[in-house]
Amino acid sequence: MSKVAKDVDKLEPEEAAAELATLAAEIAAHDALYYQDDAPKVSDAEYDALRQRNLAIEDRFPDLVRPDSPSKSVGTAVQSKFEKIAHEVPMLSLDNAFDDSDVFDFVGRVKRFLKWPEDVPLLLTAEPKIDGLSLALRYEKGVLQSAATRGDGAVGENVTANACTISDIPQKLTGQDIPDVVEVRGEVFLGKKDFQALNQRMEDEGKPTYVNPRNTAAGSLRQLDANITASRPLRFFAYAWGAMSHMPLDSQFGMVELFQDWGFVINPLMGRFDQVDDLLAHYRKIEEQRASLDYDIDGVVYKVDDLKLQTRLGFVSRSPRWAIAHKFPAELATTILTDIEIQVGRTGALSPVARLEPVTVGGVVVSNATLHNEDYIAGIGSNGEPIREGRSLQIGDTVTIYRAGDVIPKVMDVDLSKRPSDSVPYVLPDICPACGSAAVREKNVKTGRLDSVRRCTGGLICPAQAVEGIKHFVSRNAFDIDGFGEKQAEAFYKWGLIANVADIFTLKERDSRSLTRLKNRDGFGDLSASNLFDAIDARRMIDFHRFIFALGIRHVGEGNAKLFARHYQNVEAFLTAVEEASGFEGAAWEDLVNIDGIGETAARALVQFFAEAHNRRVVDALLQAITVNPAEQTSSDSPVAGKTVVFTGSLERMTRDEAKAMAERMGAKVAGSVSGKTDLLVAGPGAGSKLKKASELGVETIDEDGWFELTGL
Ligand code: IVH
Repeated sequence: MSKVAKDVDKLEPEEAAAELATLAAEIAAHDALYYQDDAPKVSDAEYDALRQRNLAIEDRFPDLVRPDSPSKSVGTAVQSKFEKIAHEVPMLSLDNAFDDSDVFDFVGRVKRFLKWPEDVPLLLTAEPKIDGLSLALRYEKGVLQSAATRGDGAVGENVTANACTISDIPQKLTGQDIPDVVEVRGEVFLGKKDFQALNQRMEDEGKPTYVNPRNTAAGSLRQLDANITASRPLRFFAYAWGAMSHMPLDSQFGMVELFQDWGFVINPLMGRFDQVDDLLAHYRKIEEQRASLDYDIDGVVYKVDDLKLQTRLGFVSRSPRWAIAHKFPAELATTILTDIEIQVGRTGALSPVARLEPVTVGGVVVSNATLHNEDYIAGIGSNGEPIREGRSLQIGDTVTIYRAGDVIPKVMDVDLSKRPSDSVPYVLPDICPACGSAAVREKNVKTGRLDSVRRCTGGLICPAQAVEGIKHFVSRNAFDIDGFGEKQAEAFYKWGLIANVADIFTLKERDSRSLTRLKNRDGFGDLSASNLFDAIDARRMIDFHRFIFALGIRHVGEGNAKLFARHYQNVEAFLTAVEEASGFEGAAWEDLVNIDGIGETAARALVQFFAEAHNRRVVDALLQAITVNPAEQTSSDSPVAGKTVVFTGSLERMTRDEAKAMAERMGAKVAGSVSGKTDLLVAGPGAGSKLKKASELGVETIDEDGWFELTGL
């Protein structure tokens, strides 16, 4: 987060919803970079901070938890299906420039570093930044030895067999003056037309389609079966190098041209200029051609041409000081809103989704966009997004779609002059499209205003809510069952194998007596079925707070689940107390609403959940099959007991999760952001806005060592 974030405690629901939307998009984009591209753009600490902020907001506004919330994603583990190759010369990333002045600053910085007067011309190359994935090709005596992905920059994956199927990659170099060791680097990508043709083929075969050419290229290159890679028309532009036994030339431009003599394809739009104005003119020229190019680009890269100067300039952290990527602004496209569909989430929220006439925005074919809720469609409230104040959306409208990076596309504007004459205002259904129950907008008890979200009242009789509930139950911060994700939840529900979460734990037993064994069903085999049963068995013992969180009770996110667990200590005491509180009065109710950090809304939701006979039955059935560990005893005499602690920056002796668990064991409350209520900030290197805020508020701040000293660990 670049701007100073507002305290979670002070967020209005609208702001929270908007921020959750941004966070979901941002985290998804980082996940894609990390998992699909092997090219993370943020440090682990920054990434963790985004996730923590998301969790903190969800804890406070559990009914705003989005269907695509990052807290629900299991997070693909980095696949290690390929051998590793250590890069002799690290593969770095590029610093970004977003406008002309950033480019002037860059050139100024370079000259100052070189101690050059400002008016001496500096020769730079300018070329498109290809939106693919980088690949390092090592040749010895002119023969291809290995191909490695970027990986984490230090170690990549050995994809040699797959790279050999790419026709732009020569197996043998041609031409003269070829050093003994040559490592050519460049970008693997898939052309836009080839991407569309491939997706058409997938669709015809009833297979899932790909999101964009870059992810497809990454997925295609990392296939275990090189025949699959060979069937994808991947291409390669050479633009850089790694290890070289000697350098045949002394300029960036010359080297890339030499690559062409050796048999590589180089980008035809590379130019060389010694004035910033000319660089910028070239940028504009490339930008104008962007839509008509057959490959995705996301900016223009400028590099100092003289290799001796490159060496002098060196690197700062993970990017060279001699290069910068001038990014293109977010892309817009105009299309038609063909329909509005309703998705029903776990808490019954009806989410309208725009169906669009497919249109390419920045290389991605977009056919859906988020519409949030009925107020947003009516043009009331922007949900924190580009506004079309006062203008409603109707089916048939001509709309402007906006997409920045990998984020979920949004409807930015509507052209009312093009609205069809027979178009009518859109009314969100007042019955749930999944189960037919009434869908209502509840009144917020505190504000007296109508909730922006319309919700199905069907509870678990609603199939959509039931499936979402199962997905939540198995998700990472809940039961975290390996190999049981959204797809499996949907399939099991559809096949009638799992109707509620208690059924998960009887699946194996029922399967052994079933005529249609799981191992024989679509998408399963002997191994995956038995792995799944093992994974389920592994969760028959579960921590108390995970158990509470997994139930998916409204307003009970992870934070509240922990507070309940800590307060009641074990599941028996918890169930007795909640039952006794059912009249919203008496000692048990008073005790519940007085738990520090629990508001009346969450307390009521908890009681209501267990008052529902169906829910109670499911919980009882669950408890027949599993053991819930009592909460860990927290010590009340620790120096941090009862204090609110915030961790920020990168921690070296413990992970964030460890730090959090440690603090909670000692009776502290861990918060995601600094506020007046914060007692202690533990700040590691790289701490930013939170540290600043803490010092403004006079919050006691210590470093990681101080934390260990204080807690005596
Ligand atoms: S030069 C030391 N040139 O952008 C920097 N990179 O953000 C070496 N990329 O990982 C990279 N087009 O995958 C360079 N013309 C280009 C590029 C380019 C795309 C990618 C590359 C790199 C990333 C850095």
